[in-house]
Amino acid sequence: MVLLGLALLGTWDLTQVRHSILRNYPVLGHARFLMERIRPEIQQYFIESSTDGMPFDRETRDLVYERAKGTKDDEPFGTERDVHAPGYEFMAHSLRARQATDRAPTVRLGGPHCTQPYDIALLNISAMSFGALSPNAVEALNAGAARGGFAHDTGEGGISPYHRKHRGDLIWEIGSGYFGCRTEDGHFDADLFAAKAVDPQVKAISIKLSQGAKPGLGGVLPGPKVSAEIAETRGVPVGRTVISPPAHSAFETPIELVDFIATLRSLSGGKPVGFKLCIGSRSEFLGICKAMIERDITPDFIIVDGSEGGTGAAPVEFEDHMGMPLTEGLMLVHNALVGTGLRERIRIGASGKVASGSDIVKRVIQGADFTLAARAMMFAVGCIQAQACHTNRCPAGVATQDPARSRALVVPDKATRVHNFQRSTVSSAAQMVASMGLDSFAELDPSMLNRRVNSHTTRTYAELYEWLQDGELLDDPPSSWAGDWIDARTDRF
Ligand SMILES: Cc1cc2nc3c(=O)[nH]c(=O)nc-3n(C[C@H](O)[C@H](O)[C@H](O)COP(=O)(O)O)c2cc1C
Repeated sequence: MVLLGLALLGTWDLTQVRHSILRNYPVLGHARFLMERIRPEIQQYFIESSTDGMPFDRETRDLVYERAKGTKDDEPFGTERDVHAPGYEFMAHSLRARQATDRAPTVRLGGPHCTQPYDIALLNISAMSFGALSPNAVEALNAGAARGGFAHDTGEGGISPYHRKHRGDLIWEIGSGYFGCRTEDGHFDADLFAAKAVDPQVKAISIKLSQGAKPGLGGVLPGPKVSAEIAETRGVPVGRTVISPPAHSAFETPIELVDFIATLRSLSGGKPVGFKLCIGSRSEFLGICKAMIERDITPDFIIVDGSEGGTGAAPVEFEDHMGMPLTEGLMLVHNALVGTGLRERIRIGASGKVASGSDIVKRVIQGADFTLAARAMMFAVGCIQAQACHTNRCPAGVATQDPARSRALVVPDKATRVHNFQRSTVSSAAQMVASMGLDSFAELDPSMLNRRVNSHTTRTYAELYEWLQDGELLDDPPSSWAGDWIDARTDRF
């Protein structure tokens, strides 16, 4: 009788479409859901094992899961955060609170040299390659993007058939391996690039300079992982190990980088072209700004990635100790562009643990125009943060190339979740802006974000940080910036 019951349960688990874990682990997978149910009670009696060192805390993950499933309701009782702890941040609401509009805000990517501008959503899918993610995960993300009218960054692994099936808007990322547009020996191939970039589904092109979780590090895709499909997508031979070098071969200096931007824009028929980076040093970024001015060539957008960002695989030393966190990197890029008089021409994107409406509002206050999320989108397609991305044994079928595991992820169900998560997160951000008495995200400013600096003092971002005036670096750099401004070079990074 028991065996019959288990057999029936197992059959049901394998055929249902909502839970990838149960499709991959019939019967046994229920233990996870049981633990989830009784967790609040267990927490009351036992000290929960620490989540320190884990990429996302449980509360944030649960928020994403619930929004993705469409089950997120208001919370009873009030905050569980320690509002008196140093570092606690809060936004200033207004007694002139507005009614939030239903219209999802967008931001125009398209500087003076762009002829096919793109109106990007406030929250988009950050770069994750086919190869790092399973075919079904890529398909579900793109289908979600298509439904919700937001953008899906391909990651550096090229445009796969799974990116194309649902025709969701793409940002095509070009990394140092030039996958999808490379010569046989791994250099940039202009003809291949042009042929793909003009596809109407490609709305923008992003040159990847560096990534927060592993800045300055290339990548290796081992031969056994280079299946026929991955080889075709990346433009490399089947079964042969492929290497992404730590730096680009198409340019070596800031001047050459901005020239490359102009080349890509022209080859793509005038689409928005930008770059993504995690900030290392201020003078290096100022060197790029000087090159923009010297050549009168600007990217249409810059995506700032925080060192707290994620990856499929990287050495722990890089994850923990290299690169600038998003808050500092974002404010640096915003100030550098304001100070060089270029801010009006360039939109700024921010990625690094964006998972909620308040994350979006904070990042906009710190200088962003739009945001991107990678791991929160993985949660939306069923990732349980097993941290097994590099083993090919992802239990949720998200970060694996094993077809048996990938099939557990049911595309239409997860596409709905991606759409739900993006829509309700943006809507919650819009609600916050309305509660702050504002009509648009453009009205947010650093005086509206407060940080507790010790037990008896809070300060606004306007007070805590230095904010440059338009063109100030060109006219009269303040002493705090003058050294880096002088050191910044256009002829070498
Ligand atoms: C599985 C995985 C694969 C990634 N692949 C890329 C990539 O190909 N190119 C890239 O620029 N960033 C890549 N990233 C970084 C993300 O795009 C993003 O910048 C970073 O994770 C911060 O966002 P998050 O905190 O929302 O995850 C990857 C991240 C993850 C988790």
